[in-house]
Amino acid sequence: MSKTYLVTGGAGFIGSNFVLYMLENHDDVRIVNVDKLTYAGNLENLADVEDDPRYAFSQTDICDKPAVKALFEKYQPDYVVNFAAESHVDRSIKYPEVFAETNVMGTVTMLNCAKEAWEQADGTYGDHKYLQVSTDEVYGSLSIDEPDTFFREDTPLNPHSPYSASKASADMFVKAYGDTYGFPVNITRCSNNYGPYQFPEKLIPLMINNALHHEKLPVYGDGMNVRDWLYVADHCKAIDMVLTGGKTGEVYNVGGHNEKPNMFIVRSIIAECSKAVDDPAITEALIEHVTDRKGHDRRYGIAPDKIKADLGWYPETAFEDGIVLTIDWYLAHEEWMSHVTSGAYMDYYKRMYEGR
Ligand SMILES: NC(=O)c1ccc[n+]([C@@H]2O[C@H](COP(=O)([O-])OP(=O)(O)OC[C@H]3O[C@@H](n4cnc5c(N)ncnc54)[C@H](O)[C@@H]3O)[C@@H](O)[C@H]2O)c1
Repeated sequence: MSKTYLVTGGAGFIGSNFVLYMLENHDDVRIVNVDKLTYAGNLENLADVEDDPRYAFSQTDICDKPAVKALFEKYQPDYVVNFAAESHVDRSIKYPEVFAETNVMGTVTMLNCAKEAWEQADGTYGDHKYLQVSTDEVYGSLSIDEPDTFFREDTPLNPHSPYSASKASADMFVKAYGDTYGFPVNITRCSNNYGPYQFPEKLIPLMINNALHHEKLPVYGDGMNVRDWLYVADHCKAIDMVLTGGKTGEVYNVGGHNEKPNMFIVRSIIAECSKAVDDPAITEALIEHVTDRKGHDRRYGIAPDKIKADLGWYPETAFEDGIVLTIDWYLAHEEWMSHVTSGAYMDYYKRMYEGR
């Protein structure tokens, strides 16, 4: 029987990839995309499916309880996948309250509305599931000198940035709903994603865009901070598998076992961009080391053993292939890039949050 997914943040990077992935891989789904359309949300990402009868969109803030409640009444979703968040660490350092509002209060509002909609007379919740899309950043930082240590699902939460603190707080509310009300939840904690539709404030699309325009490539500190990079389609598949196969109440770490220092990523982008457009001016001379991010975590590394063992998930896209696919996508979508880097998008924070 057809299932209805209420997907929040579906106009953002991972959310739009997930909406497209679900509609492409399942005939019998209905997707309701609930997105406030901040600077990071862009309906152009979903132009190919806007007329698909299985897809609906609502411009709604997940903190707006009456509006979210009305969506539950209207669409009667079977599942909630909560992607909606403020997601950029640098912005969280400047505007922590905005991150607390959307990432913490927005999550509590979603949990509350889902609980009210799904609770049955006997206190159970039927065949429903709430999935919180979280991040490996909630675990804090690992040492570069101990490459055999990894984040596991039982690693204590130790967030450092306002972004990761807001995501860890949200995770704790999701856990509390499971523990207190027997509410059917899963949490996925994924490593760094890359791929199509990522907003060019994040490392990989920023470097691709700047390299293609011969602009400086700003690298924080010594550039040796390590992240575990996963192609976004592999993350989407993991979420699909956890929703339908994950054991209720469990946390699943999702990662590519693909740990690379930022300098490796930047050098790979320079080499691949230069090759793709046959431009010898794209060289490492564009790299510029800039003052390190405050509280910059040194290393993230995920052991995705549990999701592999329990659900058979594994990362299918090798980094060497994924980065070429990503560069090719940005080259084919220059209009998208110039649209999202236009003043209107970039000034969003100024307009919304400065001086309030
Ligand atoms: N990007 C990564 O590498 C990564 C890795 C692990 C986990 N995550 C998590 O995945 C989720 C999606 O990340 P992303 O990179 O796609 O983010 P993104 O910034 O690209 O997209 C976020 C989306 O949420 C929407 N949104 C923001 N505030 C909202 C609100 N109050 N109400 C409704 N919609 C709102 C935005 O309009 C946007 O469409 C986030 O929860 C993030 O913490 C991201």
